[in-house]
Amino acid sequence: MAIYVNKENADEVSALIEKIDIYGPVPANETERQYYYMAKVRRHVEALTKELGRKPGCCVVTFGCQMNARDSEKLVGILQLVGYDIVETEQTDFVIYNTCTVRDNANQRVYGRLGELKRYKRQNPQMKIALCGCMMQEPAVIEKLQKSYRFVNLIFGTHNIFKFPELLNSMFENNGGMTIDIWKDTDQIVEDLPVERKYPFKSGINIMFGCNNFCTYCIVPYVRGRERSRRPEDIIAEIEALVADGVVEIMLLGQNVNSYGKNLEHPVTFAQLLERVEQIEGLKRIRFMTSHPKDLSDELIDLMAKSKKICRHLHLPLQSGSTRILKAMNRVYTKESYLELAAKIREKIPDMAISTDIIVGFPGETFEDILETIDVVEKVQYDNAFTFIYSRRTGTPAASMAGQVPDDVVKKHFDLVLQKVQEVSRERIRQYEGQTVEVLVEEKNGQDERLMTGRMSNNTLVHFPGTEDLIGKLVMVRLVRCLGFYYMGEQVAKENG
Ligand code: 5AD
Ligand code: SF4
Repeated sequence: MAIYVNKENADEVSALIEKIDIYGPVPANETERQYYYMAKVRRHVEALTKELGRKPGCCVVTFGCQMNARDSEKLVGILQLVGYDIVETEQTDFVIYNTCTVRDNANQRVYGRLGELKRYKRQNPQMKIALCGCMMQEPAVIEKLQKSYRFVNLIFGTHNIFKFPELLNSMFENNGGMTIDIWKDTDQIVEDLPVERKYPFKSGINIMFGCNNFCTYCIVPYVRGRERSRRPEDIIAEIEALVADGVVEIMLLGQNVNSYGKNLEHPVTFAQLLERVEQIEGLKRIRFMTSHPKDLSDELIDLMAKSKKICRHLHLPLQSGSTRILKAMNRVYTKESYLELAAKIREKIPDMAISTDIIVGFPGETFEDILETIDVVEKVQYDNAFTFIYSRRTGTPAASMAGQVPDDVVKKHFDLVLQKVQEVSRERIRQYEGQTVEVLVEEKNGQDERLMTGRMSNNTLVHFPGTEDLIGKLVMVRLVRCLGFYYMGEQVAKENG
């Protein structure tokens, strides 16, 4: 039973689930097994609906990156099929936090918000709370939750998210207790489970899971496991289904997309995958994230240069401009090789926007190292950069390195880097003033009802007077005025295909 659920076939899938015999044997095939549990959970939700006299509400809160956002769409797809009403408020019948643990402040936010949920639960004792995502893969977190957060009903990790229907069923059958299921790792990729998209016209698609790079500051390889790629046929089929359902822009997701396909039975390069994606008719824009500089091939640069669909935006995390620190970070490139790579991209694709991630305060980092980072920022001329304060993650090699930098020094260095980054990207973004560009209209402007917000191929946002019927369409907009990091514009022609 291979089902990709979209708006058109949701009723059909629903009818299929209705027909599943929940008193029969549990199917052996993993996908069928999860549909079987969806049928079982649906009975529980129906009973709850009767008791409440309305559909129960469920709120899914996402912390962290695009991967988590995509995982949340999978959770929402299943929750809708089993009968929940998806709501925005956390004062509801079921709340799920899809957590992140890349930096410690994300963890602290989860604990803070759990305190708030405890109050809601006191007012509504049959309320259910679930936690999932990267933070749950840390044994110390589970210990703390078991000890001090007994009111949480369901806890699962990143490797067994495909078992969500089965876990939901355990939660219902566990009568208010705490259900915990965390896997250390997995090599399983389960296809064809339902997904609900946040935007009808654009979508993220996982092309691979996990990471093998073990940068010394990073917890991701420990919580997301080893690198595994999805088969190209499965990826292409998913994108075709999305395009048939109205999607015009896709974002291929992986921790290191440049090493895509290496561990497949029939190895494929990322550039080869992109070539196949490019041929999908009706698809207008292709984005991808994240590229590790050490694996970005000439084959890929040449393909991007000639592609009509690959967006003019490349995220190329630098982390540090100091070769000494890069070595300690296990990034496997030097300041010079990174600069060479960036120069090659700028030369072959002049209109390509380059964005980056920078960490300030890695153990042993000195003022001289910061000057090296600032030098790279100046030389590469980033269009956008995310600057992070180093966060010490227990279990990573960097956590036990000598020379942890004091907070006040980190703060000073951070401000210096941030200032340079902002100065450089302000200039870069401004260069398009007066030009007419294609933007994909994404939503109504949150602040001004008369404005629509769209995204240029290079990822810059543009606000312009327009109506809601433009959402999801590609339109030509003249960039009238640059306001810092975004543009105010005006539409110059009717929609563009
Ligand atoms: N501290 C600070 N930033 C980190 N990142 C990853 N791990 C850490 C950490 N321990 C940043 C990196 C990465 C981005 C997603 O998060 O810059 O590219
Ligand atoms: Fe973390 Fe490095 Fe893997 Fe990125 S490439 S997820 S920074 S270990």
